[in-house]
Amino acid sequence: MTFQTLTTIALTLFVAFKDVHAVTPSPGCGQNQASGTVSSTTTVNGKRRSYITNVPANYNSSNPYRLIFMFHGWGNSASAVANGQQGFLPFMGLPPLANGEGDPIGAISVAPEGLNSAWANSGGEDIAFVDQMIKEIESRLCIDQNLRFSTGFSYGASMSYAIACARAKQFRAVAIISGAKLSGCDDGGRRDPIAFYGQHGSSDGTIPIASGKQLRDTFVANNGCTKQTVVDAAAGSGAMVKTQYQGCKKGFPVTWVSFDGGHTSTPTTRGAAKSFTPDETWVFFRQFT
Ligand SMILES: *[C@@H]1O[C@H](CO)[C@@H](O)[C@H](O)[C@H]1NC(C)=O
Repeated sequence: MTFQTLTTIALTLFVAFKDVHAVTPSPGCGQNQASGTVSSTTTVNGKRRSYITNVPANYNSSNPYRLIFMFHGWGNSASAVANGQQGFLPFMGLPPLANGEGDPIGAISVAPEGLNSAWANSGGEDIAFVDQMIKEIESRLCIDQNLRFSTGFSYGASMSYAIACARAKQFRAVAIISGAKLSGCDDGGRRDPIAFYGQHGSSDGTIPIASGKQLRDTFVANNGCTKQTVVDAAAGSGAMVKTQYQGCKKGFPVTWVSFDGGHTSTPTTRGAAKSFTPDETWVFFRQFT
């Protein structure tokens, strides 16, 4: 073997290793144990803001966790997301999946409260709120700073989209559940890639599916995926159709799910006892370790 070959192998191994194992522990690692659901308030640009944090019962401050933000829809609240009201599953159904025995990392869930029950993100004030929450949460809890995620429904999905645009380097992936561009997309002209899951009902009468596709197509482009023609779930089919885009930059996949249904965070396929949203969101998020 030549030196060059060895160098190539070493580099390949290094890159592969780095991809899988890079952990950036937050300042909260090694601090006091804590678990349960806690409400916090803070001040951002002179405005009082609040959020609810869920820490799993078996939390161990020696281990860096995923951090998952979950933004409520217009007229909903953080407590509706936390408690599973107003059409939401508790913390969008993710804690039982993320903190099950099968997952070695686990997740801390955060339900933030919007101003006037919305996410207008005027002048970037909601992105500033996100920055502030990250700082506060990561100073007291052990988070892997490479494993921050955001999801949300409707206006809250739009807020997750604003995060995908403005904080692509701080977050690993987003899951946009029935969203539109309602909270802006201040990407500073950088068009950074971020792993993107989008989901929308074919017959959504509140936010048309075309709006969800616009968000998706922004990241199909930013992530360098091959454009393709996607046929959405047909009305009356009772189905969901999942498309995984090909050719995306490594580590920046795009998944699109359309379903036969309207404006809901918990759609089901015909005959199914429970919604596919938590499972599909978790399958997308858990690939990042
Ligand atoms: C917490 O995790 C560390 C590192 O994995 C382990 O050594 C320790 O025993 C764990 N503590 C508890 C209480 O499980």
